[in-house]
Amino acid sequence: MIKLRVELGRNSYDINIGQGLLSQVGVWLKERGLSGKAVIITDANVRPLYAAALEAGLAVAGFKVSLLEVPAGEENKTLTAAGQLYEGLVENYAERTSIILALGGGVVGDLAGFVAATYMRGVPLVQIPTSLLAMVDSSIGGKTAVDHGSLKNMIGAFYQPRLVVADVAMLKTLPPVELSNGMGEVIKHAVIRNRSFFGFLQKHMTKAMALDIDLLEAIVRENARIKVPVVSLDEKETGPRTLLNYGHTVGHAVEAVTDFRTRHGEGVAIGMMAAARISQHLRFLHSKDIALLNGLIIQAGLPVDLPPLNDAQKENLLELIKHDKKVRNGKIRFVLLKNIGEAFITDKVDIDLVREVLFASKPA
Ligand SMILES: NC(=O)c1ccc[n+]([C@@H]2O[C@H](COP(=O)([O-])OP(=O)(O)OC[C@H]3O[C@@H](n4cnc5c(N)ncnc54)[C@H](O)[C@@H]3O)[C@@H](O)[C@H]2O)c1
Ligand SMILES: [Zn+2]
Repeated sequence: MIKLRVELGRNSYDINIGQGLLSQVGVWLKERGLSGKAVIITDANVRPLYAAALEAGLAVAGFKVSLLEVPAGEENKTLTAAGQLYEGLVENYAERTSIILALGGGVVGDLAGFVAATYMRGVPLVQIPTSLLAMVDSSIGGKTAVDHGSLKNMIGAFYQPRLVVADVAMLKTLPPVELSNGMGEVIKHAVIRNRSFFGFLQKHMTKAMALDIDLLEAIVRENARIKVPVVSLDEKETGPRTLLNYGHTVGHAVEAVTDFRTRHGEGVAIGMMAAARISQHLRFLHSKDIALLNGLIIQAGLPVDLPPLNDAQKENLLELIKHDKKVRNGKIRFVLLKNIGEAFITDKVDIDLVREVLFASKPA
């Protein structure tokens, strides 16, 4: 197991990454001075697979454990679900010092995190990510949120966990599409910060996609090593953390115009390619690097081009991109690439170039 520290003063916390860690969580919580009630929040898919091992370890360490289950899926990341969880917490006599453990993918992490941030103005939170996306991205950095109507992730809070435990053995049961989904963020981290990790992924992607757990452990570890310093420097996303949005301007817009039938990792993959092509047009990025990125995204089972869109959807896509990034004098803020491994922020991307890159070479 390795331990990484997110340094945020009073809000600092550890990320423990390894295999077979679930049963040790109780001991680690005791070491952090936590005791009393522990409430596991999980979804209907994850519960039968992993809740028992977590519960047993917590009970042995002296915690009084209860469990609240939510249905699986993004459509349940709502204020209504949060409301039901508050009621469940009250029914279980959860107090200010009671601990919420978010056992699941990013949906459970965001929802349970939001509930922990707001129940009694904040109770201790532990993130136990079970999907690749949650291990490499959503469990690190303290962002929590719910969706509301068409507003995705707009209601939320920055709320740091006391501990993150990424037990990569749990990835064995992850459906292949969800593995691909998480790989979008993995590739993003490599592309913005670490060319040698990108090379590592090129070499080992096939094995990783075949669920080689040792390899996935190395990938999760390396990802955390990239994301942790970025979020430590910039807890509330006012500066360098913006680089983590590489591929997300177009990605979010694609997700939205396809009514979220495009998964987040798929949207990010499409967005990463679009941003790379924009970088090439502006003569920052070499075409060889575009080919390398294209190849790796395909190996991860992710798309490199937009799905078929009608004219109205195309216009809507551009509107969303403009809206997301506040156009000034026809120019938009974008995260672009100088090289694989080196991203930067510019506010000089012309909306017409975005249009050209997204639609010009593609049949209508
Ligand atoms: N807070 C952040 O910084 C941040 C960052 C990125 C994404 N997100 C959010 O994360 C969410 C997406 O997360 P996700 O992709 O993990 O989706 P998810 O939580 O819906 O998980 C995907 C599916 O896999 C199942 N699953 C999870 N772990 C499993 C396992 N080990 N074995 C078998 N099945 C398993 C889940 O039940 C679900 O059906 C979105 O809501 C997104 O907004 C948040
Ligand atoms: Zn993302």
